Amino acid sequence: MDRELRTVEEIDEAIRSLRVRGAPLIGITAATGVAALARGVTDHSDSPPDLTTRVTGWCDRLEVTRPTAVNLRWALGRMRAVAAGGTHRPASELADALRAEAQAIWDEDREMCRRIGEHGLELLPNGATVLTHCNAGALATGGIGTALAPIYLAHEEGRRVRVFADETRPLLQGSRLTAWELGAAGIDVTVISDNTAAALFAHDPPDVVLVGADRIAANGDVANKVGTYGLAVLAKHHGVPIYVLAPTSTIDPSTPTGADIPIEERDPDEVRRGFGRLTAPADASVWSPAFDVTPGELLAGIITEHGVARAPFEGSLAAALAAAVPEQ
Ligand code: MRU
Repeated sequence: MDRELRTVEEIDEAIRSLRVRGAPLIGITAATGVAALARGVTDHSDSPPDLTTRVTGWCDRLEVTRPTAVNLRWALGRMRAVAAGGTHRPASELADALRAEAQAIWDEDREMCRRIGEHGLELLPNGATVLTHCNAGALATGGIGTALAPIYLAHEEGRRVRVFADETRPLLQGSRLTAWELGAAGIDVTVISDNTAAALFAHDPPDVVLVGADRIAANGDVANKVGTYGLAVLAKHHGVPIYVLAPTSTIDPSTPTGADIPIEERDPDEVRRGFGRLTAPADASVWSPAFDVTPGELLAGIITEHGVARAPFEGSLAAALAAAVPEQ
């Protein structure tokens, strides 16, 4: 569904309420939003220092809308840097530079998704079965997704891939988004309720588990949609490899371990009355973290646009980040 966002309040609301969601897409939306807002004020001929101050204010506001997804801070950091470096320029030129930066963030994400998909392709021989959680696909990124990228590429090559998609309580990103986008692409997808995952491992284990990430700590611990940790424990118990697929913009070297990742808590009514229907006592106490943390030691690898990082992750993730720094 198309939706026009015209003010910082509307962009803030769209991100908080998950009208746009998925770590990379949140970053792209915020950056594009800031660029559009800048263009709007220059039409009213603001002076350059004023525009920089305003950009900083918009970034401050949007950065806190989803505290776990580090791509948001990363993308807005790039917009802040352009604004800070442009105080001497005419406002319209600065607005053009902000627009170019937002477009670059989007274009780079599209390219990173494809490269992640290429690196993950080796995990999906013909006939492979995959379990995934939440939605880390085209509806979460600027391209073909992260966890779903190798699936799209395998399908493009004519390989048969069967995907099990956790429905992903309470907001059902798996059944509403993953099942929809894979189905629309003609990929074989079966939805399971979250509490069916253990039965799947016991009766008909998938060949591999592929998930996305909202923030990857320097030591390889990964925050992703709540429920991912449970899958990682199941995967370990059943000897099934689990991979996290994410662009380097999701690695946060300033967060040493998973214990340091801030975990967003959601409105209890998303659990008590998801989509409007009361499914618990109206005043039931609810704990609803949006994400959980999977210890790096449970992961077979972390796939970025620079290849597969393996344990010990301190070194392999630092190398991926170093490879991501553009040459001057
Ligand atoms: O709360 P959401 O829907 O934004 O959570 C999304 C996830 O957990 C995704 O797996 C993650 O952001 C990676 S998207 C490529």
